[in-house]
Amino acid sequence: MYPISCLTIFVVSIMGPWASSGFKICAFNVQSFGESKSSNPRIMHTLVRIVSRCDICLLQEVRDHKKKAIPLLMTALNRYDSGHSYDYVASERLGRTPTYQEQYVFVYKTETVKVLETYQYPDTQKGDEDAFSREPFVVLFEAPKTEVGKFVLIPQHTTPSNATKELDELYDVFTEVTKMWRIQNVMFLGDFNAACGYVAKKNRKNIRLFSNPPFLWLIDDKTDTTVKESTDCAYDRIVVHGESFARAVVPRSAGPFNFAQKFRLSEADALDVSDHYPVEVDLKSGAVNLQPSWLSLLTVTCILHLVLYEIPSLSAWK
Ligand SMILES: *[C@@H]1O[C@H](CO)[C@@H](O)[C@H](O)[C@H]1NC(C)=O
Repeated sequence: MYPISCLTIFVVSIMGPWASSGFKICAFNVQSFGESKSSNPRIMHTLVRIVSRCDICLLQEVRDHKKKAIPLLMTALNRYDSGHSYDYVASERLGRTPTYQEQYVFVYKTETVKVLETYQYPDTQKGDEDAFSREPFVVLFEAPKTEVGKFVLIPQHTTPSNATKELDELYDVFTEVTKMWRIQNVMFLGDFNAACGYVAKKNRKNIRLFSNPPFLWLIDDKTDTTVKESTDCAYDRIVVHGESFARAVVPRSAGPFNFAQKFRLSEADALDVSDHYPVEVDLKSGAVNLQPSWLSLLTVTCILHLVLYEIPSLSAWK
C-alpha cells in the first residue's frame, strides 16, 4: 500500500506543470453590449461561459451609458463561476461624437491577476493629429503564476475606414508606455479590422507594428474571427512585443474561440451575442509556482523511505 501512495505523490508532483491550467488572455468585441443584451438571460449565459474561460478578458464595444450592463455581467459571472471572483477596470466612454461612444473593459480573475497601473492615452498628442476614434486604455497587469509575471495590454478597436492609420499609431502608444513603465512585455489586442479590405496588403508597410520584427502577430490573415458563415475575415488580432514575452506564450495557443460550435448554438443564436468570435492566447505558467515546496519535500521523503525501508524489507522476504 505504501509504495502505491508514494508513487501517486511522485506522479502528481511530476505531472503538476502539465495538469495545471494555463493562463488565458482574451479579447472580445461584444458588438454593442449594453442594456438590451445585458437584460437577455440567454445572451448573458453564453457571455459568462465565454468570459469565465479567461483570466483576463478585454471587452470592446461596451455601450453602457446607464452603467448597468457591466455590473450585471459581473454579478452573473460571480454567480456562474463561484470558484473564482471577478473584477474589472474600464475606460471612460470614448468616441469622436457624443452620440456614439464605447468603453474598453478588462474583466479579470482576482485570484490570478492584479492591476498595477492604468493609463488612458490622450485624445490628442501635442503636435499630432487625433488618430484614434477610441484611444487605447492601457493597463499594466501582474500575474504571478505566469512565466512573464508582468505585462502591458494595449487594447484597440479601430474604425474600419481608418484602420491602417490607427494601427500604425499604436507604435507611438507603445513607445510612450514602455518608457513610462520601463517594461518591454507588451501585448496589443482587439478588433483591429485588419482584414477584408479595411487594411490593404500594400498598406501593411505603413503599419510600424507590422513592419518591425520585434512585433509578433499571433493570429494570421487566414483566420476567421467572424461569426457569420458568409464572412471570412481576420479582424481580431493579438500581437506581442519582445522575445521574452513571445517565449512565454504557449505555442499555437492563439486563435479565435468558436463559441457557436463549442456551445452548439445556431448561427442566429450566436449572432445574438456578437458578430465576432473572441480571440485568445495562453501564457505559460511559471515553473516555480507550480510545484509547491511541500510536494517536493513529500516526494523526497517518500523516495528516501522507499529506498531505506521498503525495498530492503521486500528483499528480506525472499
Ligand atoms: C479618420 O481619421 C481622421 C484623422 O486622422 C479623422 O479626422 C476622421 O474623423 C477619422 N474618420 C473616422 C470615420 O473616424
